[in-house]
Amino acid sequence: MDRLVIEGGKRLAGSIQVSGAKNAALPILIATLLTDEPCVVENCPTGLRDIRTTVRLLESLGKKVTVDGAAVRVESTGSLKTQAPYDIVQQMRASVLAAGPLLARFGLVRVPIPGGCAIGLRPIDIHLKGFEAMGARRIADQGDIIMSAPRLTAGVLRLRFPSVGATENLMMAAAATPGRTTIKNAAREPEIEDLGRFLSKLGAKVSGAGSATVVVEGKVKLSGARHKVVADRIEAGTFLIATAAARGKVRVLGAEAAHLEAVIAALRKAGAKIGSGRGWIEISMDRRPKPVAVKTAPHPGFPTDLQAPWMALMTLATGFTKVRETVFENRFMHAAELARMGAQIAVSGSAAVVAGVEQLSGAPSMASDLRAGAALLIAALAAKGRTTIQRVYHIDRGYEAVERKLARVGARVERVK
Ligand code: UD1
Repeated sequence: MDRLVIEGGKRLAGSIQVSGAKNAALPILIATLLTDEPCVVENCPTGLRDIRTTVRLLESLGKKVTVDGAAVRVESTGSLKTQAPYDIVQQMRASVLAAGPLLARFGLVRVPIPGGCAIGLRPIDIHLKGFEAMGARRIADQGDIIMSAPRLTAGVLRLRFPSVGATENLMMAAAATPGRTTIKNAAREPEIEDLGRFLSKLGAKVSGAGSATVVVEGKVKLSGARHKVVADRIEAGTFLIATAAARGKVRVLGAEAAHLEAVIAALRKAGAKIGSGRGWIEISMDRRPKPVAVKTAPHPGFPTDLQAPWMALMTLATGFTKVRETVFENRFMHAAELARMGAQIAVSGSAAVVAGVEQLSGAPSMASDLRAGAALLIAALAAKGRTTIQRVYHIDRGYEAVERKLARVGARVERVK
């Protein structure tokens, strides 16, 4: 298994390019199940394990997939299967997104119930309630959920929480269901907007994606499309926070400031100077950060996916910082690993208090999940001395060629096989 070895304490300078958003590419690739015509999805982070798993999922369901650099071409080979394999769903929870398109098109789908993961239980009740509200019946069988409906019906769906995955699943189901479906209390993430654009290109009429009410006018037969995936705001935010922690001046290319307002506001309060233009954000920071409390919330709030990176930055703050996690139940696993590097963090339920220290010191560490791994990387870049991070495969799920990108701005990061 690979490890990352980081010699910390190097100032970062230069520019760094972000990839297409994993969390937009996943639903968009899965949405190609809605049509028999060819689709080309460009700017996909095809180096990521989750994208490769999505390709395997599409192939196992009967699509022909060709990957050419960052472009993924998806074509029909005839009929599609309506059963998602357990080993793929187990590797990637987002596989449940195949349920919406398959159920809407074929009136039947069988998917294994994804288990919990390191950060929480992650049930899929909101997805299932939405399908039921569209007329599907649900049966549980040997760890699988079977949903059936001779024909889904359009209507008004109200989500009890703005779940990203449920909003996407229901938008896809609605796209292939004739009539007007309105999703209320929908998630507002930029990735949802991007999926909305793709579904519109397929021939569904989508409005309001990115707001709390999404309206989809679906049709039975959708066409093929070509689409370029939106930039990864979480990757961009990670590089901005990393620069704030390690200090320096970095321009993040491909990033959209409008997608990161809460994070940019927090960085400014912490003392960073930030400029932005179309397709770039630049940060400069040359001192210890001031403490800035954050509370995670669905978009446009502070993203839960940047909570761990933010905590890593706040371990160096000039005072005490409170960090509250409201989206997932158990997303503080990085605290104990950061403590190994000299961070002072007390966790109590859904809140953590970080007492900033002047300097972290490198240490052997282990990534427990994707964003916890990013937090360790940020701490390691700022720390004095050498840090090794084990279980890099977690980081590889969400950050493409992370060591190469960071090396381009002067970080000393090496992957050891
Ligand atoms: C997506 C992102 C993930 C991000 C998360 C929240 C992808 C592939 N992943 O995950 O990176 O951290 O949004 O921004 O896009 N919930 C339920 N019942 C449901 C669905 C969700 O209780 O049916 C709960 C979850 O357990 C969690 C919260 O709602 O506590 C948020 O989940 P959701 O927004 O669905 O996240 P994902 O789509 O899984």
